[in-house]
Amino acid sequence: MTKRLALVAANWKMNGTLKTIRPLVQEVIGGLKDDCHADIAICPPSIYLQELQTLLTGSRIGLGAQNASHLEAGAYTGEISVNMLKDYNCQYVIVGHSERREFYHETDDRVAEKFIRVSAAGMIPILCIGEQLSERESGETDTVIARQLDAVINMAGIDGFKDAVIAYEPVWAIGTGKTATPQQAQEVHAFIRLQLARHDDEVADKTRILYGGSVKPSNAADLFSMADIDGGLIGGASLVAADFLNICLAAG
Ligand code: 13P
Repeated sequence: MTKRLALVAANWKMNGTLKTIRPLVQEVIGGLKDDCHADIAICPPSIYLQELQTLLTGSRIGLGAQNASHLEAGAYTGEISVNMLKDYNCQYVIVGHSERREFYHETDDRVAEKFIRVSAAGMIPILCIGEQLSERESGETDTVIARQLDAVINMAGIDGFKDAVIAYEPVWAIGTGKTATPQQAQEVHAFIRLQLARHDDEVADKTRILYGGSVKPSNAADLFSMADIDGGLIGGASLVAADFLNICLAAG
């Protein structure tokens, strides 16, 4: 089995102002220990990408976006294209976050189109998938995960996953303080890897699968110790420098 380098990515969502993000980033950069070997990234609101690009210069923290248009360019008011994100040296782009699926009605196919657009522009898509509480309770977790994943595999091909990251984010664990247990998360991560392996063993072995949903310093190490959990996508806790740093450290 390949040793996968952990990735811890901060998803700030729609939080922060120039006044609050500057000290936050400086504290994270200043507090990042040499013995933290994981890849680290911050995904700020798009309007702060330029500021973050400047603040992160000379640090080893990568930059990511939270969303991108599935279209190349044109009359699409309010949208942001992958080429615009490239202008700010974004390495990662989150696609298919459950908040986008739920509040902005992004379908599995739309998410797949975004995934392809991001990869084609030379950035790493962080594909979010995860079940709702009702789906888990009715025993549909695997079906939902397979459906969300297959939509992307069918459109992008398994080769599309060569440089991609997947984030398993059970919707019931996001922002609720209710974390999946390490065993619950591991079970789904292993299932995701199995789905990839049905197409290509090597891709399955290499793909980093992050866990997201109420990750905190107190539960990060247990989650990250599981065989198929390769880091985390961190919401609320990434807005507090000390918490985010401790989570990064827990990732190895
Ligand atoms: P929380 O860490 O706030 O639960 O959010 C998780 C998430 O949605 C990251 O993308």
